[in-house]
Amino acid sequence: DTVDWDPEDAGKGEYDHYMAKEIDTQPTALSNTIEGRVENGNVAFEDLPVGTFADVETVQFVACGTSYHAAMYGSQLLRSAGVRAEVLRASEYEQTAGPVDENTLVVAVTQSGETADTLDAVRRATDRGARSLAVTNVVGSTAAREADDAIYIRAGPEVGVAATKTFSSQAVTLALLTQRIAADVPTATPVDDREAMLESLEDLPEHVETVLETTNAESLAREYIDSDSYFFIGNGLGHSVALEGALKFKEITYEHAEGFAAGELKHGPLALVTQETPVFAIATGDDEKTKTNAIEARTRGAPIVAVAPDDHPIADAADRQLSIPDTHPVWAGLLANVQLQLVSYHAAALLERPIDKPRNLAKSVTVE
Ligand code: G6P
Repeated sequence: DTVDWDPEDAGKGEYDHYMAKEIDTQPTALSNTIEGRVENGNVAFEDLPVGTFADVETVQFVACGTSYHAAMYGSQLLRSAGVRAEVLRASEYEQTAGPVDENTLVVAVTQSGETADTLDAVRRATDRGARSLAVTNVVGSTAAREADDAIYIRAGPEVGVAATKTFSSQAVTLALLTQRIAADVPTATPVDDREAMLESLEDLPEHVETVLETTNAESLAREYIDSDSYFFIGNGLGHSVALEGALKFKEITYEHAEGFAAGELKHGPLALVTQETPVFAIATGDDEKTKTNAIEARTRGAPIVAVAPDDHPIADAADRQLSIPDTHPVWAGLLANVQLQLVSYHAAALLERPIDKPRNLAKSVTVE
């Protein structure tokens, strides 16, 4: 007798899908990402000594897909530390990049290190004199080899086409990189509560564990499974999480999902809002815009799901909640994102989609 056996299944263990396993192992992945990188209140990266970034005037993040959303997160944090930073879709680099010179640091954010558009954007920037840094999961990847420097996110291998644990590890790595760059750049204004932020980072793996243990994502996915469309809104760091929540949802459920900056809802998307469009409102700290726009959507009949700590004011504007532990605002979006990963996963499972290998998509896109 022969048995059909896919060698990749060997790595799934007790899980039905790699995606479930990869979501579930985020506490370990994050511990590895953080390990040894915060010492005595300072951020340290292997091979990047203090002063490495002293000449940097502008940072350009380039990325695609989920990595772009992590790059948005990093870029916003860097700007709030007083460093000029922009985030560019790698495929649009030529048309959208600002000026580049030897004081520009181009940061390629790429899980695989092989995405053609991202590699191309870096080559265009370095041809014009920029210095390059790869933030990747794969040691020895093309991005890591070609860039002047590389930082590894240490998330471990990711098999599911939909990126999950690598998003979390990328965002944490970029948040730490921000602190490292801001410490070197003379004109930077490192955030005042830096110490509190780094302290609560230590609790992040445990907080993710709490989300995984207490989540109601499955019953919530079931409740809204017949909806027409799924909206995700957030402001500030929550905007990148909204985009990522929607991307994950469409990738694996094949249902229509969109992410918006909360304040943009009234500039068009509100026309689509009905009782059949649940709106996930992501709270990460300063969420007034997300709250007022969630209320606008609710007034038009949309069910609102607050993705927020229990006592957060946004919960008053919501029908349902995906709860996250209290933490520093810089990390809250990552906890919200884990809840959204779980909603997508359970919705896709209920719809019986091929979760690990969605139609038409590839883990790594090596053509432009
Ligand atoms: C593909 C994958 C996405 C990924 C993107 C960028 O589209 O399906 O999950 O986010 O490539 O990949 P990278 O390896 O550069 O992070």
